This record gives sequence, C-alpha cells and structure tokens, in this order.
Amino acid sequence: MPKHRIAWLPGDGVGDEVCRAARLVLDAAGFDANYLHGDIGWEFWIREGDALPLRTLELLRNTDCAFFGAITSKPVAEADRELTPELQGKSLVYRSPIVRMRQLLDLYICLRPCRAFPGNPLNYREGIDITVFRENTEGMYIGVEFPQVPQSFYAEKAMSRIPPEAAISIRSITAASSRRIVEAAFEHARRTGRRKVTAVHKANVLRATCGVFLDEAKEVAALYPDIVFDTANIDAICMWLLKNPLNYDVIVTTNLFGDILSDLCAQLVGGMGFACSGNIGSSYAVFEPTHGSAPKYAGMNKVNPLATILAAAMMAEWLGERTIADAIQAAVTEVIRDGEIRTYDMGGTATTSQMAEAVAASVRATLIA
Ligand code: IPM
Ligand code: MG
Repeated sequence: MPKHRIAWLPGDGVGDEVCRAARLVLDAAGFDANYLHGDIGWEFWIREGDALPLRTLELLRNTDCAFFGAITSKPVAEADRELTPELQGKSLVYRSPIVRMRQLLDLYICLRPCRAFPGNPLNYREGIDITVFRENTEGMYIGVEFPQVPQSFYAEKAMSRIPPEAAISIRSITAASSRRIVEAAFEHARRTGRRKVTAVHKANVLRATCGVFLDEAKEVAALYPDIVFDTANIDAICMWLLKNPLNYDVIVTTNLFGDILSDLCAQLVGGMGFACSGNIGSSYAVFEPTHGSAPKYAGMNKVNPLATILAAAMMAEWLGERTIADAIQAAVTEVIRDGEIRTYDMGGTATTSQMAEAVAASVRATLIA
C-alpha cells in the first residue's frame, strides 16, 4: 500500500503540464503515493454547471491532501454564455473552485514562501526571503456580493450613503480567524528561526474590519517576545517592499491584501514561475502553484514548472517527508544556480518538461549521494 493518498487535480490550461512536471520530480524523489484523479475546472462548469463537482469534494474527504494545478475562470456574462444550453438561465453562479475549497475545507492558512534562489537572473535582489501568511477563508472573498443594493439594507441608517444602483461586496473579518492566521505566522517564525513578523492592514480607513485584525495581531505578538513584531499599512508596505525587500521576513495579512502582496513578493523573486502555495487547515491541505491557467500557453510545453515543483516539495514536507522535500528544494536550487536549463521567463529556451527532467535528475543525484 502506498504511504500517502493524494487527490490529484490538474485542472485546465497549463495545469496538466505543470502537474506532470511535478509528478516526474516526485517520482524521482521516491515519494510513495497513490494519486487519485479529481475532476475540476472550466469544462465541468460548461457541462455540469459546477467547476468543483460533488464527487471531487468527496474525493478530498477521502485523501490525505490534494495537489492542484490551475483553472480558467471568466467574467459573469461569458461564464453564462459558455454553459451548455440546458443549464443556461438557471441563475447558476460561477465561483472559483480554489476559493471554494479553501472555505469548504477551512484551509485557513495560505502559505506563500517567496525566496530568491541564488543566481536566478530574475531576482529583484539576491537574498530576499519572505514568507506570506494570507488569511484564506474570509475577508473580501466570502462571496457575499450584490450587483445592486438590496432594499432591506437601507433599514440601517449608514447605508443611505450607498447609491441604490451600486454594486457591493461584503468584507467580513472575525477575531477568531484573524487570531489563528497570526498565530500560524508566529508559530512558523519560531519553528523556522525567523526574526520578524509584519502584520499588514489598513486600519486607519477600514477601521472596523482591519481594526479587529490588528488588535488580534497585537495580542498574539505579545505572546512571542522572542520575535520582532512590526505593523504596516498595505499601501506603504508595497513601497517599502520595493525599496528595502531585505527588511521583511514573515508577513501576515487578510485575504485580499495577501492575494495582492503575495504576487508582489513573487515578482521580487522571479515572478509566478517560482511562486508556490500551501492552503493549509488543521487536518487537510491543498498545494498549488500560485499562478493561473495561462490559457495562451496551454499545451505548448513552455511554462516554467518550478512553482508547481516547489509546491510538491511543500506537500512532501507537510506530509512529514522531510528528506524528499529537502531533496526537491536542493535540486531546484542547483538547477537555477547552474543556469544551463532556463525556461522562457528566465530568458532561456528550455521547455516545461526539460526543466522538470533537469530537476528530477538532480533529485536522483542528491538522493543517491
Ligand atoms: C490566488 C489566485 C486566486 C485568489 C484566484 C484564482 C481566485 O489569485 O490563489 O492568489 O484570488 O485567491
Ligand atoms: Mg492571487
């Protein structure tokens, strides 16, 4: 019996090819798993009106964790037009499957390491090593949105400031969710010997929601006197990250800010080709490259698979396979430093599979040595 049961969700666009690349590396590392394919993505929206079918949720409930590639999502009108005719006009609403998985499975931590691999020609600066902890279940992403203001809203006096024709999105932030993400960031900092945690907010304007987050962050920080605690406004930190990226270590923030900041931090270390994510709850997790499905590159064997390969290393580590995780990390480090195999984003001509082969070969060499 293989040791681990993995729900394997390549999705669409480039999802399939980057997942195949990760699989090649996991196999080279001797990762012992049973991979169970799950349906997810745009084609299931078109055919079934659900990009994350129930059978896939069932699969998630019966596996140790999931590995996810990427999926396409399109704006409302287009999504409706592409539905199979029987499903049109039924008020089906497309919601991003990854956001739904995070919420349904309470994967409250979105862990996004952004490390400058030595010698990566795309590094903004050498030595950058930032880990973003993004709250993953609430905030602006709860999915409570109104294309127009419901009449009943006006029962509350302050609502009269909202024009009736306005579209509104609700931002909901709780103390409990804020606390657990900040705790996760501090625990990680302590465990991995990091020196500083920065809590990012906009409490001077978003007083209610960011206020709750910031209060919790301060309370938790007081319990970790060994770690420097710092706070920053979301706008200011975007500037400071570009000016002094080496000043930042662990960053913790709410959902939307974390979504934005993690792309910024990814670019500091080479862009989406290097950005991996773990969506982690108390007993389940979904690992994925941070990038999307890049439809224009789908099937071209062109995109950089390193983000997905690094997500595989995160998965191995979460499953307790430390040696395998370290071997994959070391192999990626070596291939980048070596500089011979580079995908198009790195200024080279190597294909997705050539990059994967190079990492796999290096993994084999490390594990034999
Ligand atoms: C991410 C992505 C997703 C998000 C999209 C695909 C819904 O941007 O994982 O950062 O907004 O969380
Ligand atoms: Mg994003």
